[in-house]
Amino acid sequence: MSTETMSIFSPQLAAKFDALVLKYPVKRSALVPMLLYAQDEIGYVSDAVIAEIADRLSITPLDVRNVATYYSMLRFKPVGKYNVQVCTNISCMLRGAYDLFDHLQGTLGIGHKGVTADGVFSLEEVECIGACCWAPAIQVNYDFHDELTNDKVDAVLATYRAKAKGATTNA
Ligand code: FES
Repeated sequence: MSTETMSIFSPQLAAKFDALVLKYPVKRSALVPMLLYAQDEIGYVSDAVIAEIADRLSITPLDVRNVATYYSMLRFKPVGKYNVQVCTNISCMLRGAYDLFDHLQGTLGIGHKGVTADGVFSLEEVECIGACCWAPAIQVNYDFHDELTNDKVDAVLATYRAKAKGATTNA
């Protein structure tokens, strides 16, 4: 598939994929980066994402799914505009990650893998995100927030709420 044919991706991402497959001696080596870029743009690894990537790599959708389901950072259902990932691994757990997670569940009114009714936030408990020295830590999309308390995390959520509101207002 090339940018000239129908794609579910933006022209920019389709062009990026065209270039990416040429970088590897074996086309299917581009699979994981393609899935990550696709997820960033579409929000999750949908059936349509799987079908187009399979087509671009000349492999079957089942081949794509078999690889994709191995990676916990890939998701198969839509998440909120801001996906809040709370690390509850050992360092974070010892420094109150479960209190933080409970607090977030209460504040957002959703549980693990839930999405708020307005679609702004989703919440999930995850393994180590590599910020152990600054535990407890969370990741919101690609932003890290660390050394958190309940009050600090409320302030973090408020900034994302304001951003989401701004995006709606400016739309
Ligand atoms: S244990 Fe939480 S970031 Fe590593």
